[in-house]
Amino acid sequence: MTLSKRINELNESQTLAMARKSRELKAKGVHVINLSLGEPDFDTPDFIKEAAKKAIEDNYSHYSPVAGYLDLREAISEKFKRDNHLEYTPDEIVVSTGAKQSLINAIMCLVNPGDEVIIFTPYWVSYTSMVQLAEGVPVFVKAGVEQDFKPTADQIEAAISPRTKLLIFSSPCNPTGSVLTYEELSEIAEILRKYPHIYAISDEIYEHIVFEEKHISLASFSEIKDRVITVNGLSKGYAMTGWRIGYIGAPKRIAQACDKFQGQFTSGTCTISQRAAIAALKADPSEIGYMREAFYRRRNIVIDLLSEIPGFRLNLPKGAFYVFPDVSKLLGKHYMGNKISTTEDLCMYLLNHAHVSTVSGDAFGASNCIRISYAASENDLIDAISRIHEAVNKLKD
Ligand SMILES: Cc1ncc(COP(=O)(O)O)c(C=O)c1O
Repeated sequence: MTLSKRINELNESQTLAMARKSRELKAKGVHVINLSLGEPDFDTPDFIKEAAKKAIEDNYSHYSPVAGYLDLREAISEKFKRDNHLEYTPDEIVVSTGAKQSLINAIMCLVNPGDEVIIFTPYWVSYTSMVQLAEGVPVFVKAGVEQDFKPTADQIEAAISPRTKLLIFSSPCNPTGSVLTYEELSEIAEILRKYPHIYAISDEIYEHIVFEEKHISLASFSEIKDRVITVNGLSKGYAMTGWRIGYIGAPKRIAQACDKFQGQFTSGTCTISQRAAIAALKADPSEIGYMREAFYRRRNIVIDLLSEIPGFRLNLPKGAFYVFPDVSKLLGKHYMGNKISTTEDLCMYLLNHAHVSTVSGDAFGASNCIRISYAASENDLIDAISRIHEAVNKLKD
């Protein structure tokens, strides 16, 4: 075999078949509404773009320090204070090529082969693959719609073994939109306090897209802060997915390890993006509030309309821009002799018959759910959900 065991064992994106079908339909002139997107449909705000243009003019065209420019790390340090009440000095911060690289850095630096990593499930797709790349063993702690997709402290504690090294979660969560409350986070902090061999990665990339709840950082529980890696970035809150800026705040020894690891892979991320990120982070967060407000309006529209569809069970997502209906009641139904056996079948059915693309929950460790992104215009959302409703009505027992 030519390719490594590592790559052969890595999961391929499960959305490829859907993307292909979607392209085919579009090529035929069909108006496909894409509700499978994992990124804001907004463009990057102008004041951030201006900073990038200036950086080009000012010749920011050379290598930056691996961990990012000092003044960017100072701006992140200030941001942590301002938004999260966290103290991270610039040498406890590493800027990377998207939060994705921040995550793989931290996982590669902490996980030894055979170490167990507890992943709150439903999870963001890449956590599992990253743990596997580090030859760790993912341990899934599952929570369904009936518990707002949030595992209880008892469930988490029951998954702990002497081999547990790390736990990973996102709040606000992709794919469920759930947001952990202060009380829930304090229970997680209490577990970490009780088991001093365990570290936590708190992925806070959606922190600016929170509705009724307030975003709380796990690291704000000071007694466990030295075992928490806070992951964040500009992709979601600032509509900057293509700019590739993510970062961690972590204890110095872990930040130094991530710096060393990144130094052998990619070095410092794009210098123009780093200069733009300084402008973004120094601005008052109210500058980006219009996106949160739009997502909030859309969330309400989407929840109202989806809850009228028979067979859809919903939680009320308090953040991010996804809803994650449990559709298990629809599995086993038929359309013109074809059985809908899995959520992947359902997503394909919705694409073919409603011309709406969604993502099967399998990708997120929840085979009875589908993910619907509401990073789309209100008109498209209303149209898409009425098409989904109509298609679901056509399913027969
Ligand atoms: C929960 C979560 N973490 C991390 C990322 C990666 O973000 P970035 O684009 O900054 O690499 C994503 C992107 O979809 C995400 O949803």
